[in-house]
Amino acid sequence: MLLKESKIIVTGGPTREWFDPVRYISNASSGKMGIALADEAYKISENTIFIHGPINENLVKDKPYECRKIETTADLLEAVLNEIEENSVLIMCAAPADYTPIEKSDEKIKKQDGDVILHMKRTPDILKNVADTKKCRRLNNFFVTGFAAETMNTESYAMSKLAAKDLDMICLNDVSQPGAGFNVDTNVITIFTRSGLKIELPILTKERAASEILKQIDAELLKRGD
Ligand code: C5P
Repeated sequence: MLLKESKIIVTGGPTREWFDPVRYISNASSGKMGIALADEAYKISENTIFIHGPINENLVKDKPYECRKIETTADLLEAVLNEIEENSVLIMCAAPADYTPIEKSDEKIKKQDGDVILHMKRTPDILKNVADTKKCRRLNNFFVTGFAAETMNTESYAMSKLAAKDLDMICLNDVSQPGAGFNVDTNVITIFTRSGLKIELPILTKERAASEILKQIDAELLKRGD
């Protein structure tokens, strides 16, 4: 399986979980790292799709590849499961909301005196579902990269995610470091692979970081030799 002959599915940006018609739970992901990955992916394979949550529309205007907008973590799960297939590579760079309000009010909830408690439940773990689907559909030529944005015990969390979610590669993003993380144009990434490599990238623009990540995916696919 060669990267240039693969379908490359990149996800990016946050998701939104609404609890009334005007309010939602989300996070500060800008989608910039995902876009940088999709741009680099398209240079390698024109069969690239970018599935993204609510981000600045100008960032995806006029892209030569398909950009599909979703809103909730459940939407993202559905879109990802629809796209994965043999000879595909999934780069799961989105920052999906991990919790969704249990109740969604059809009317705007009126403010009242005192505190409010919002009850929430977990959203589906997309990578876990992808791992199950991969087994169930017996996808052999399929490569999955996850991301881990952490602020403490970064390396051990990344390594345990690599194993728990049956990933081929994980890109660790220490968001406590200057120049890394949400809404900046640079990133500091360490790549861990299923094959046991640890590659520490210096502070790079998101474009350069994306190019290094794709280079490493290409190298891992070549090592597999299938
Ligand atoms: O566990 P954590 O959310 O930190 O894992 C990050 C990785 O898991 C990212 O690749 C992210 O896209 C993915 N993720 C997921 N489903 C979720 C939340 C995160 O697949 N509900």
